[in-house]
Amino acid sequence: MSDAKTIESVMDERRRFPPSKEFSESAHIKSKETYEEMYRGSIRDPVAFWEKWAKEIDWYTPWTKTFDWDPKEVRIEWFRGGKLNASHNCLDRHARSWRKNKAALIWQGEPENDVRTFTYQQLLAEVCKFANVLKSKGVKKGDRVAIYLPMIPELPIAMLACARIGAIHSIVFGGFSSESLKDRIADSGCKILITADGSYRGGKLVALKANGDIALAKEHYVENVVVVKRTGIPVEMKEGRDTWWHDEMETASTVCEPEVMDAEDPLFILYTSGSTGKPKGVLHTTGGYMLYVLLTFKWIFDYRDEDTFWCTADIGWITGHSYIVYGPLAAGATTVMFEGIPTYPQVDRYWRIVEKFKVNIFYTAPTAIRALMREGEKWPGSRDLSSIRLLGSVGEAINPEAWMWYYNVIGGGKCPIVDTWWQTETGGILITPLPGATVLKPGCATVPFFGIDPGILREDATEADINEGGYLVIKKPWPGIMRTVYGQHERFKDIYWTRFPGVYLTGDGARRDEDGDIWIVGRVDDVIKVSGHRIGAAEVESALVSHKDVAEAAVVPMPHPIKGEAIFAFVTLKAGVPEREELKKELIQHVRQQVGPIAAPEMIQFANALPKTRSGKIMRRILRRIATGNVEELGDTTTLADPSVVDKLVSSRKELVK
Ligand code: WT7
Repeated sequence: MSDAKTIESVMDERRRFPPSKEFSESAHIKSKETYEEMYRGSIRDPVAFWEKWAKEIDWYTPWTKTFDWDPKEVRIEWFRGGKLNASHNCLDRHARSWRKNKAALIWQGEPENDVRTFTYQQLLAEVCKFANVLKSKGVKKGDRVAIYLPMIPELPIAMLACARIGAIHSIVFGGFSSESLKDRIADSGCKILITADGSYRGGKLVALKANGDIALAKEHYVENVVVVKRTGIPVEMKEGRDTWWHDEMETASTVCEPEVMDAEDPLFILYTSGSTGKPKGVLHTTGGYMLYVLLTFKWIFDYRDEDTFWCTADIGWITGHSYIVYGPLAAGATTVMFEGIPTYPQVDRYWRIVEKFKVNIFYTAPTAIRALMREGEKWPGSRDLSSIRLLGSVGEAINPEAWMWYYNVIGGGKCPIVDTWWQTETGGILITPLPGATVLKPGCATVPFFGIDPGILREDATEADINEGGYLVIKKPWPGIMRTVYGQHERFKDIYWTRFPGVYLTGDGARRDEDGDIWIVGRVDDVIKVSGHRIGAAEVESALVSHKDVAEAAVVPMPHPIKGEAIFAFVTLKAGVPEREELKKELIQHVRQQVGPIAAPEMIQFANALPKTRSGKIMRRILRRIATGNVEELGDTTTLADPSVVDKLVSSRKELVK
């Protein structure tokens, strides 16, 4: 942490929502007692628990040791010696069963009439074809493949094709800039890029291929680029490097034997932001991850074979990896995938899709709920949402007001809401209600999943009391946890395992209430959650400082009614540069280009100087309060090198509001 920020907890929410008898009776986990008994068993003897449930996935060769770990070196191993293939588990085993003609993927494009449905055997055929394309380009087991695609079926097809041949996919969210794409391609040494000519975004077109070209103009190993034609916008195709997806697929065979992978062979890398410097390449492996996403998917979303499941996330984030693709397909589910945004062409888009496909389980983010709530009840009210039987929330804490709206207006007052807490690093959901067993409290993530042993610690590593905020940690590895930061194992150890040796530090603050339920309080590091997406303060700061007029910058969160948190930037200009409003716009534009639109500051305040300690460290605690407008409680400012700096910031913050 950059400075001691006390973990406060002020929520006092008394409403309770027990599961209905009807829901519980047909649920996978039917009662609090069943949950507790299974949970206690899973903590007492995790090896026996995971050994038993690992049979839910298909193994070519059984494992010899279920779990092994070295807390000092943080080497984590699940299912040693076990052999499997993720794409086989997601496709072949269902395509060989009665599910062969079941819809695996229902895709809704941004244009209303763009709908494509793939049965398990159709999806398998497409995946095999693209796996053969990758092979023909020289991609082999262990190679890294960069994927920079919109939310179109080619995205999961490319992912599963990588998994089939043992290549490691690294998906970069289509909203990231060419600069961010370049960094990620270079960091993991990708040898091929899969992209599209462009993507639809709320009726506008985004030039993905052009971004890709800029990214590839600099240093990298990329030898081939495969381009999906999605929008028809003109692109430059570089001779000898770039080919069209549809040309490649035309002649590719639909037969491709899956590569036999070790349980600990990498499945994918996904970059995420932290408190310092560049994003980290979070590495997930095959066996533990597949088992963890399958079981969490089945039990937390209480999935049944006849259900249609829709997670609205983008596959460019972990939520999409785990709960649009790997979890649902491993379970043989029907998963819906949507290319567009909730507010285009109208603010009822989500509800239209629910009605159209009779969605039974709907999983979205609080920021979307708040945005749609603001538009009023008439939009969901004019659609038939009666197919929904379970709702889910993810990405940030859901405020009780949004929870109640989601519950009453979308769920008709009869559907449980699973408020699922997890992270890119955790692979799958860790803290969540089990919908047939848990009494819900608006805004509360409630209880740990099986095998998850959370702690809430004070600075001195002792356990916090009831309702006392502390650092949320997980005391032992579970199968879905990341194994390393790609190519930087020391960084993995430093970030997650050093603050409290031997336990996993989540970076979140939390408290436990009288019932033992866990409430997530928010990040305790310099990560800002903008619309549920993780933005590292340091990344935005370094983008700002890379502008020619900027001497120094400090970035903190500010509350935002829709986004949850937004970015507030304090900027010190170089000597002689005049402070003008135009320059603020230019700086915002600069960050958009450097990192991506999601990282754009909401507000910029020029500051002659920033509050620093005598040793030169920026006091973020003070800046956070100033950004919030909470200037009456700035706390102790006596340790500042120059306390008068604060007064100036406070008065110019007041100007900013006016
Ligand atoms: C951070 C992880 C997990 C997939 C999406 C985000 C916050 C996530 C919740 C929740 C309160 C939540 C945490 C966490 N977060 N879910 N249900 N309640 N906070 O993944 O980008 O890796 O972000 O999101 O702060 O650490 P991510």
